[in-house]
Amino acid sequence: MRTQVGIVGAGPAGLMLSHLLHLAGIESIVIEDRSRDYCENRVRAGLMENWVAELLKKTGVGDRLAREAMVHDGIFLGFNGTAHKIDFVKLIGKHVYIYDQKEVVTDLIAHRLKHGGQILFEVTDTGVHDFTGDRPKIRFTHEGRAQEIDCDFIAGCDGFHGVCRPSLPDGSWRGYDRVYPYGWLGILSESPPPDKELIYSYHERGFSLFSMRGPQLSRLYIQCAPDEDINQWSDDRIWNELTTRLGGVRPLKQGKILQKGITPMRSYVAEPMRAGRLFLAGDSAHIVPPTGAKGMNLAIADVVCLSRALERFYRDKKDDGLANYSAKCLPRVWKGQRFSYWMTQMLHRQYGGDYADFDMKRQLAELDYVSSSQAAAVSLAENYTGLPID
Ligand code: PHB
Repeated sequence: MRTQVGIVGAGPAGLMLSHLLHLAGIESIVIEDRSRDYCENRVRAGLMENWVAELLKKTGVGDRLAREAMVHDGIFLGFNGTAHKIDFVKLIGKHVYIYDQKEVVTDLIAHRLKHGGQILFEVTDTGVHDFTGDRPKIRFTHEGRAQEIDCDFIAGCDGFHGVCRPSLPDGSWRGYDRVYPYGWLGILSESPPPDKELIYSYHERGFSLFSMRGPQLSRLYIQCAPDEDINQWSDDRIWNELTTRLGGVRPLKQGKILQKGITPMRSYVAEPMRAGRLFLAGDSAHIVPPTGAKGMNLAIADVVCLSRALERFYRDKKDDGLANYSAKCLPRVWKGQRFSYWMTQMLHRQYGGDYADFDMKRQLAELDYVSSSQAAAVSLAENYTGLPID
């Protein structure tokens, strides 16, 4: 097989890159180790910055989003028994959307296939080769046969556990890592969310988040230990804990729990996001804890930048965009890291340790400050709704 850009991974980054390249007249092939069904049904965080929604609409993949996404004017910070609204629209005139990543993936797969895109699912044994020279190759097995894609460039959009980042030559890059001593237990439940807006709730027993996927479908999270055993969490225990941690700021209706799972939390950045003709984008290059809701948004920003650089290469025969790819992405990536870290440390309870009680008082003061100072609220709003990409 031969193409211009070989893309490893059919998540939001890989698919959006393939879509943007197609619009620029550049060919790509996407390979993915999971099945199409798995990619389209895996529930993941769903907060979309305004510019991402506009980009999807502007590039012809936003019809369903325009009909179905839930528009949010702000968030609530719940603490000390009160919910304080941070009103993004009033503060800075911007809003955000809830539209699960799986919906973005579903829309992009359908659109790419309709426009002749090539996506190979359920590939195995993927390896990326020869990218420090001029003729990179992706080798893998598909439908029982060994295959090779001969390409000009490889985009590693294969997530934190993918093969692309570990293939970067030793000594050419380094990772900056921070692991948090907590995880999130997330559920999807057939119940109305407690408020039209998301509630980020701080409580002595720990953080909880009240999000949604529809008027009768809630997406709820509870701070827990990173190695928590999900079997220790009966439905009753989950509902009791959520009710306690919501702290009485709204009534909480219960419903059938459709899914539950635990996610550990970490912050990670690989620098640079490139070696030769291999470019990392999205979670393969950096991940954030979900508290700041930045994951998919940072991934889309990367591929916007990468598609522009590739367009400049093919159209203008200039490689400065490719040379600057990493330097262009990283300052914004680090601001996303800073914000996600900041939200995480403000909202999660330290269990034990010498400073747990001091930190609780400090966190409450910080929440009070953010909720009462216009300057602090504007800062939260501009980061949450998305910093400019240019
Ligand atoms: C979600 O709805 O899944 C969600 C929303 C906001 C977050 C994290 C997750 O910060």
